Amino acid sequence: MKVDVLNGVNFDVLERRDPALYGGLSLHELEQQIEAWAEELGHTVRCRQTNSEGEYVKFCHDSLDWAEGVIVNPGAWSHYSYAIHDALDVLTVPIVEVHLSNVDEREDWRRHSVISDLVAHRVIGKGPAGYREALAYLAGSAA
Ligand code: DQA
Repeated sequence: MKVDVLNGVNFDVLERRDPALYGGLSLHELEQQIEAWAEELGHTVRCRQTNSEGEYVKFCHDSLDWAEGVIVNPGAWSHYSYAIHDALDVLTVPIVEVHLSNVDEREDWRRHSVISDLVAHRVIGKGPAGYREALAYLAGSAA
């Protein structure tokens, strides 16, 4: 399966963010893990990251003609970006929402995701392994 993994704002400095919440690994290390898990599961994966909301919308549009499944972690945009909601709404393939930290047990504003109505599955609070679960979910959905 061809899978896009779209990480959003502040993931470029992942290794500098609170390790208790985000695990202390860099975006590069996270993407290497995702690529290894994807290979194990027989996926072809494309990992992308941006700090620009418009570029993230463009990534979603790029998924339209390529991806058979999409994994998204838009970071803080998850909580308020209707532009990203509407960009994802155009997709017809399964979407999985991943959050490294347990957003349900943090500040109130993190509990709401504006994209949750669009996703086939959500994985929260499982750290990097959440992406593995998302990749496995997509592999199962293709079977
Ligand atoms: C996050 C959770 C968001 O609330 C936060 O803004 C992030 C990362 C996560 O992966 O836990 O940037 O999406």
